[in-house]
Amino acid sequence: MSTQQQQPEEPQSQEAPEDPEMRGAESPVDEKEKQGGDIDQQTTPEDELEGETVHIKVFRYDPEVEGKQEPRFDDFHVPFEKGMTVLDAVMYARDTYDSSLTFRHSCRQAVCGSDAFFVNGKQRLGCKTQIADLEQPIRIEPLPHQEVVKDLVVDMDHFYDQMHTVEPYFQDEDTPNPADLEEQRQSPENREKIKMSSRCIWCGACMSSCNIAAGDNDYLGPAAINKAYKFAMDDREGEEIKEHRLRILEQEHGVWRCQTQFSCTEVCPKDIPLTEHIQELKREAVKKNLKFW
Ligand code: SF4
Ligand code: FES
Repeated sequence: MSTQQQQPEEPQSQEAPEDPEMRGAESPVDEKEKQGGDIDQQTTPEDELEGETVHIKVFRYDPEVEGKQEPRFDDFHVPFEKGMTVLDAVMYARDTYDSSLTFRHSCRQAVCGSDAFFVNGKQRLGCKTQIADLEQPIRIEPLPHQEVVKDLVVDMDHFYDQMHTVEPYFQDEDTPNPADLEEQRQSPENREKIKMSSRCIWCGACMSSCNIAAGDNDYLGPAAINKAYKFAMDDREGEEIKEHRLRILEQEHGVWRCQTQFSCTEVCPKDIPLTEHIQELKREAVKKNLKFW
């Protein structure tokens, strides 16, 4: 069951501590005094937020607590610090106000892909999204079109299944004799061609943004197709394997489902040209005279 469609309850508001040490930020007046009144006239969004609290509204849902199954938004007021990200803000809210607030995160540097949220109506990585760049109150929700497990945590099993459908590993034509193994070199040009596709961190943002995936549960989705692109376009794999990959991609719920809406490309935190890759694979499938749905 998708839970985001239901109306949230009245928000619960939680204020930041009054103690300036706990707020961890100085007021603009203190900062001015420290600098002898000589402050730069050019202010950035971060300067404007210095010393302020940030208002975040976080989606809450816990199916396991009896009588508390309705989704709602909780309000938190978090002291701003320069460089603060959305992930920093929800971590502060969890550590300071409500330890039951649940979300995934790990690397905090846009590498693990675990903290993709729906922030102010767009799929974004929490650790890569600056608070200063967002309008307040900041709405933080789980990725749409995925089942919510708890709060900001969604079930990623289907996404992983689709990724594995395209056999995301290097394959040789035949199993080589270990004695005959040779280093397989890749040309700089070929490396350049697949470079962007190899940046995927399996965050699921693209799949969540895709209208086609939302309406067709069997659609492979932009991430899986991009993963297949990475291997299909790698010169080190032979023609037979490439054809095998294209056959996976030209199936009814493969590349032909894409309607080039570019939503996946727009949200990908690694700037992978997903729509372009899907289009290129469509052309490859046509060249191979494969099925066209
Ligand atoms: S293609 Fe981009 S948006 Fe999609 S899972 Fe990979 S990194 Fe995330
Ligand atoms: S915490 Fe790893 S990508 Fe954000």
